Amino acid sequence: MKNIIAPSVLSADFGNLERDIKMLNGSDCTWLHLDIMDGVFVPNMSFGFPVIESIAKVAKKPMDAHLMIVDPDRYIERFAKLGVEYITVHLEACTHLNRTVAAIRDCGVKAGVAINPHTNVALLEDVLPYIDMALIMSVNPGFGGQKFIPQSVEKVRKLRKMIDDSGSKCLIEIDGGVGEDNVAMLAQAGVDAFVAGSSVFGSKDPLATITFMANA
Ligand code: DX5
Ligand code: ZN
Repeated sequence: MKNIIAPSVLSADFGNLERDIKMLNGSDCTWLHLDIMDGVFVPNMSFGFPVIESIAKVAKKPMDAHLMIVDPDRYIERFAKLGVEYITVHLEACTHLNRTVAAIRDCGVKAGVAINPHTNVALLEDVLPYIDMALIMSVNPGFGGQKFIPQSVEKVRKLRKMIDDSGSKCLIEIDGGVGEDNVAMLAQAGVDAFVAGSSVFGSKDPLATITFMANA
């Protein structure tokens, strides 16, 4: 598979969550993306530990937790205990970001840092040596189903150059408004991992959509 596809469980049918997670288990996706929202950092709330525990019991793919919450340090250990592969925190939510990413790695989890659409990618430069993934938000976080912000492509190109020039192995993930129509262009710009919520769960054939995106 060429591209890492991380379907966002936020767009799943929560009344049939087990069915949807099993569908993803049998798909060409690489990760399951968990969008955690606290109603403070973003103007919406999503789901918490009881739901994540249920997902973890059924999931056969690594989980990629995207924490859109203030003071994420409080929950790093709990996410680590649930066996997530990545914990991604927002640069805008962390006063001591270097300490936070170190705490994630100390728990044996890969560390990611996300930036909002208004945040300059240059701000990632000093944390790049300490992280496994940088997440470019291509919508304002808080809701699925929003329109892709076109300026995000240039941010990906800049970040790709920063990463390649530094010799880092950090992955680039993109999140928001990603689907079959823009995945190839984004891969070309340098994205490694693609979060896809409504484009997967809103598709008539989610398995085919995931396969298409994974090979685009
Ligand atoms: C937005 C979340 C996204 C979102 C993606 O706050 O971080 O992961 O669910 O949804 P789509 O793919 O529908 O834009
Ligand atoms: Zn997300």
